[in-house]
Amino acid sequence: MTQKQGIGRGLTNYGDADFARYLRRSFARSMGLSREMLDKPIVGIATTPSGFNNCHRSMDELVEAVSRGVLAAGALPRAFPTISLGEVFLNPTSMMFRNLMAMDTEEMIRAQPMDAVVLIGGCDKTVPAQLMGAVSANLPAIQLVTGPMSTGRHRGERLGACTDCRRFWGKYRGGEISREEIDTIEGRLSVTSGTCAVMGTASTMACIAETLGMSLPGTATIPAVHADRLVAAEASGAAAVALIKSRIAPDQIVTQKSVENAFRVLMALGGSTNAIIHLTAVAGRAGVRTPMQRLNEISDETPVLVDLKPVGEGYMEDLHAAGGIPAVLRELRPLLHLDVIDIEGRTLSERLDEPMDWVDRRYIRALEDPISPVGGLIALHGNLAPDGAIFKRAAATEALFETEGRAIVFTSLEDLANRIDDPDLDVTASDVLVLQNAGPHAATMPEAGYLPIPRKLAQQGVKDMLRISDARMSGTAFGTIVLHVAPEAALGGPLAAVRNGDRIRLSVSRKTIELLVDDAEIARRLADHRPPVEPERGYAALYRRAVTQAPEGCDFDFLMPPPMRPAVR
Ligand code: FES
Repeated sequence: MTQKQGIGRGLTNYGDADFARYLRRSFARSMGLSREMLDKPIVGIATTPSGFNNCHRSMDELVEAVSRGVLAAGALPRAFPTISLGEVFLNPTSMMFRNLMAMDTEEMIRAQPMDAVVLIGGCDKTVPAQLMGAVSANLPAIQLVTGPMSTGRHRGERLGACTDCRRFWGKYRGGEISREEIDTIEGRLSVTSGTCAVMGTASTMACIAETLGMSLPGTATIPAVHADRLVAAEASGAAAVALIKSRIAPDQIVTQKSVENAFRVLMALGGSTNAIIHLTAVAGRAGVRTPMQRLNEISDETPVLVDLKPVGEGYMEDLHAAGGIPAVLRELRPLLHLDVIDIEGRTLSERLDEPMDWVDRRYIRALEDPISPVGGLIALHGNLAPDGAIFKRAAATEALFETEGRAIVFTSLEDLANRIDDPDLDVTASDVLVLQNAGPHAATMPEAGYLPIPRKLAQQGVKDMLRISDARMSGTAFGTIVLHVAPEAALGGPLAAVRNGDRIRLSVSRKTIELLVDDAEIARRLADHRPPVEPERGYAALYRRAVTQAPEGCDFDFLMPPPMRPAVR
C-alpha cells in the first residue's frame, strides 16, 4: 500500500510528515489496531445515529454489517459520526440543516484518512446531504439507507407514517373521529425502526440514490427490519473495498444522463416534490443542471407506474416485495439512458439484462398499462412564479386542475396559525389559500405548503382546495397544492404582491399559475415591499446570506461549483 492510502492519507500538518505519520499510527494503536490492520486500505463509514432520529434506530447493526463486509474484503472499517437530522425533531425545519450536514459530511470525508466511504442515512434530509457532500468530496462512495418502516394495524386497516398520520388528523379536525381514537392511532403509525413507510421524501431519495447508481441495485426498498437490509449493508461494505481498486468516483456516476434517469424514476414513482429540490442540489454539486422545461418534458413522457401512498394504495414494503427499483427500471427501460455506470462499474444496460422472476403488477404497473400516462410532478410558470413553481398533479384533485378563485392571503406562518381556524375567516371552498414569506430565505422553507383546510370548511366535508406558497410540502402529503414559488415573497417575488380578493388562475394543461392583476399594479405593490430583518449571527445568518432559491436546489451559493452559482442577489 502507498503512503497516500489508508492511515497515511492526508496527514495532520505539523511541518514534519514522518512525525505526523508516526504519531498517527501510535495514536491509532491506542484503539487496539494492529500494525497489520493499519497497513490496510480504509473504508470510512459515515454514521448518523441520534436519540433525536427514530428513522436511524437501526444504525448500530448496520454499521456492524458494513464493517463485516469491509473486513472480509480486506480493508479496515472506520466508522465516524456526522450530524443527524430527524425530520420531526428539528426547529424550525430540518431543511435549514441539510446544507450543514452536507458540509459536515464533505469535510469529514476529505479531512480523515479513508480511501472510500459508505454513507448511512435514511431520514428525509440525510440522504440528500450525504450525496451532496460525497459528490463534492468526490471520493469513491456508496449510499446505504436505513430502509423503510413496516406498517402497523388499526381496526383491521394497515397504517404507515406518514400519509395515514395526515389522513386521520384530517378526520379528527373534521370531527369524524374522537380524541380517544386519534390517541390510539398515534401509537400505531410508526411501529418499527426505519423511514416513513410510504413514497415520501426519504423513500423517494433512497430510490433516486439507487437509480443514480450510488447504491447497490435492489437495496433502496428493503424494509429496515428485514434481514436482507443487513445483507445489503455487508455487501455495501465489500463493494466499497472494490471501489478502492476501481477508483470509480461520484463524478463518474452523477452525470447529466444519470440525473435525467433519476428525474424519470421520480415521475414514475409519483415521488416527493422535495426530491426535485434535493436532486437539483445533488446534481448541482456535479455541475449538472436540469432546466424546468426539461423536467416538464420528462414528466410528460413518463407514466406513473408505482401505486404507493400518498398518491396510490401500497406501502414501501409492498414495492419491495413487488420487485423494487430494478423492476421499475425494467419497465422504464425504453426511456432511460442505458450507458450510465453505477458504483460497481456496470452499465445500466448490463444491470437490466439480469433476469427478474416475478413482478407484482398491483404495485408496479407495466409501461403499457400505467396508473397515469404522464408523470406525477410538473413545473408551473406564470406571472406569479417567474422562476417556476412545482405542482404534484398525481396527488391533486383533477376537478381543480383548471381553476380560478379568490385569494385568501396569509402573510406569514404565524398569521396562518393564528387565523386559519378562525370561525370568522371569510373563506369558501372555491377560494385559493395563499401563504407568503415561507420560502428558503424568509423561513428556511418549512413543509407548511400543505396549508390545512380551514376548520369550518373541514367540518363541512371539504377535503381539498387550491393552496399556493413558497414553502415545501411533506412527501407524504397530498392535495391541490402549488409549492416552491420562486422567487419567494421575502425576496420581492410577485407572490408578495397578492392581496385578499385578488383572482388567481391555475391551469395544469398549460402549466401556468397566474395572478390576474395587471403588471403596473403588481409593480406598484412590490415597490412597497420590505425585506425581512436578517438574523445577526451564527448559522442562521450564514444560511440567510447563502441559501439559493428552489430552482437551484436551496444549496448554499458558495458550495456550488462556480458555473452553477446564481447571480448575486
Ligand atoms: Fe424520517 Fe419520515 S420522519 S423519514
